[in-house]
Amino acid sequence: MVDTKSQYLNIKTEVDSAIHEVLDTAAYINGKPVQEFAVALSNYLNVKHTIPCANGTDALQIAMMTLNLQPGDEVITPSFTYIATTEVVALLKLTPVFVEVDPKTFCINPESVRKAITPKTKAIVPVHLYGHAAPMEAIMQIAKEHNLFVIEDNAQAIGCDYTFSDGTVKKTGTIGTIGATSFYPSKNLGAYGDGGAIFTNDDELAHKMKMIANHGQQKRYYHEVVGCNSRLDTLQAAILNIKLKHLDQYNKARQAVAQFYNNAFANNTKIITPFIADYSTHVYHQYTMQLVGVNRDGLSEFLAAQKIPSMIYYPVPGHKQEMFASFGLPKIELAITDQLTNCVISLPVHTEMDEEQLSFITSNVLNFINQ
Ligand SMILES: Cc1ncc(COP(=O)(O)O)c(C=O)c1O
Repeated sequence: MVDTKSQYLNIKTEVDSAIHEVLDTAAYINGKPVQEFAVALSNYLNVKHTIPCANGTDALQIAMMTLNLQPGDEVITPSFTYIATTEVVALLKLTPVFVEVDPKTFCINPESVRKAITPKTKAIVPVHLYGHAAPMEAIMQIAKEHNLFVIEDNAQAIGCDYTFSDGTVKKTGTIGTIGATSFYPSKNLGAYGDGGAIFTNDDELAHKMKMIANHGQQKRYYHEVVGCNSRLDTLQAAILNIKLKHLDQYNKARQAVAQFYNNAFANNTKIITPFIADYSTHVYHQYTMQLVGVNRDGLSEFLAAQKIPSMIYYPVPGHKQEMFASFGLPKIELAITDQLTNCVISLPVHTEMDEEQLSFITSNVLNFINQ
């Protein structure tokens, strides 16, 4: 689905020299590039604090630990997301409350959030799925009315802009109480291994998050709170420092790929191409379309036979995952989520695709669909 090797080859000189600098200093843990990257990313996102950590799942977990959420507290999340979003809720013995998404943007539905609020609700976790922003203005309004925390799962949308109704523009991940992201290699800003970060504009929360990510200590061997060990490698930070400079251009390349697909599939009644709400840009972590009356497995197999990868993100929604069976959660119906899990399919999107590859993919998709 991605070609990280070709992307590396295009920045090889810069990356190799950054890696060698780390090797020369042997500062593998918390070396200078980690702090440099945190500052550079804060500047890029226009957020006060960036706390690097080991991966995006840890980022979400540290955010929830920092907010002092207690077992039994309810956390509202979309069911249609990657499992990490809700897994950490379960891990901390919080109660996941799954809600519906918008069928066009694939992101959390504010009305569904409102209906799910109870006296036990403590937080909402909107996910900027596939690279499109969740409806943050509405979510922040609900959070304000009910005194709830908002933890943005920005693992798939780094660089995406959200425009408020007063014209203010903010980067996703910087709007809620805390934002979390992942630098998994295939992400829009991907490392060459695991990595993650947490964002906030709140000094106190930032201080606590730093402590929690570092065994609950600010002074070595004096552990004030229960924490974990979650660090971004110096090597990964050095690589990310280089790649951050290319992020806008990478996102533009992804947008060009999406435009090619959109043009090829325009007016085809069997394909619903991705929608962009007027409040969001789209950074296309995934190009995910909906099929109408098409044999999806048949299409996947047909493409695979031509060596064209495709993926279903995600075949089983959170509320139907076996891992939650023992949680005694109330039975819920999420018709839109169920429908999406049955009709979505994602095509390859990355920064190094050329027109020949794209034509090959679109003509094969259309050959199957129009047969
Ligand atoms: C929406 C979402 N949340 C969280 C994560 C977790 O990130 P990581 O794989 O770095 O733990 C991912 C990444 O796969 C993701 O896509």
